[in-house]
Amino acid sequence: MSTTASAFTPSVSAQRADGQAIGYLMQQGIENADCLSLAAGFVDPETLPTALVDKTASRLLSDSETGKLALQYGTTGGSDRVRAVFRDYLARLEGDEDRVHNVPLDQIMLTTGSQQLLALLTEAIFNEGDICLVAAPTYFVYLGVLDGVGAQVIPVKTDDNGMCPDALDAELRRIDELGQLHKVKLVYVVSYHDNPAGISVSNDRRPKLLEVTKRWSQDHPIYLLEDAAYRELHYDGEELPSIWSFDTGYDSGDQQHVVLSQTFSKSFSPGLRVGLSVLPPELVKPISDLKGNQDFGSGHLSQNIVAEVLRTGEYWDHLAGLRTSYRAKRDAMVAAAEEFFSGIDGVTWRTPAGGLYVWMSLPEHIPTGFDSPLFARATEVDKVMYVPGELCYPSGWEDRPRHQMRLSYGVLAAAGIREGMRRLASAVRAVIDSK
Ligand SMILES: Cc1ncc(COP(=O)(O)O)c(C=O)c1O
Repeated sequence: MSTTASAFTPSVSAQRADGQAIGYLMQQGIENADCLSLAAGFVDPETLPTALVDKTASRLLSDSETGKLALQYGTTGGSDRVRAVFRDYLARLEGDEDRVHNVPLDQIMLTTGSQQLLALLTEAIFNEGDICLVAAPTYFVYLGVLDGVGAQVIPVKTDDNGMCPDALDAELRRIDELGQLHKVKLVYVVSYHDNPAGISVSNDRRPKLLEVTKRWSQDHPIYLLEDAAYRELHYDGEELPSIWSFDTGYDSGDQQHVVLSQTFSKSFSPGLRVGLSVLPPELVKPISDLKGNQDFGSGHLSQNIVAEVLRTGEYWDHLAGLRTSYRAKRDAMVAAAEEFFSGIDGVTWRTPAGGLYVWMSLPEHIPTGFDSPLFARATEVDKVMYVPGELCYPSGWEDRPRHQMRLSYGVLAAAGIREGMRRLASAVRAVIDSK
């Protein structure tokens, strides 16, 4: 008996996920495998803690008690035993033991990387057409998540000190005047050494962004999603308090506005997929319900491994080594920018105090997108890849800048970084000269 294949139409959600920048970028990475990649946002393979994870997993599994616990299901948001260790970790990061220990364990949620939390939170609070305000530029994978729920994404002016509170205020006023304030659900900020621009929200702006968000929360809470993915990859300058630390609702029992999202992907191992968040109480149930539909709990063994290195303190030793190594790679990229780009008119870049990225701007008439002459020249002739900056702005924004690049020093060693930058400068010069 033969069967005839009938036409398959993916769901609206699947169609919205199609054509997102991350998929295209991955594809470009595969097609241009012969290129040096300044594009991949991956962490440095040389610093992944293989021996430490091996030792820790063996220790956990060789004891039948801890081994059985770790190989069993946890609970949807993570077992209390493990969450308590993560809360201690947060207390140390925040430097305020009492405040953090007052947060009930069920407001602390463990997810499959922080990406899952970003997706679950978005699904929990957005209906079609609701509004999210984002820093411009911002983490492009999250823009895809917002597109996935049919959100309207509004860029907010961002400078070297992060999202501008006055610009956020002005956007919210404009939205209110249009009678659309009820649709605003979220302000999204990558608060430390952000992806893509390596910018941190300055100390004075942290409480201000929160104050503006709260002030416009008139008949429903507008949340501020503080994505602190790069918080611990800090190389120089002062360590900043989280925006979450200014959310007095956590202390007074009033409405809480900040969702704090952290991850062990950048500071330890992305393969373990351990994300940690702190949620206002009313978000716990909807997010847990949605997560329950997906997996009723993230990898318990991974969570136990991270909890164990936190408990022994080995995590912090690892982090210290990581910072030294990334600082040197950051310096290598900035030195190479100086060496190869300083002679090219109109090219500027930022030196980040942490994270994995250098953000470079070219003269405005030199577009960097996937279909630009520069991308073609870089990948086909000079054999180097970067992330086009335009991906990091809302796709519906007609006036988005198109002349920037995100360059990562995460994966390559110092020599590769220098060579990548040499090749990129050669491509940029060739395109400028051809104009
Ligand atoms: C700003 C930002 N947030 C969140 C994530 C998600 O990472 P993970 O799911 O590995 O925690 C990333 C990954 O690159 C990121 O750059």
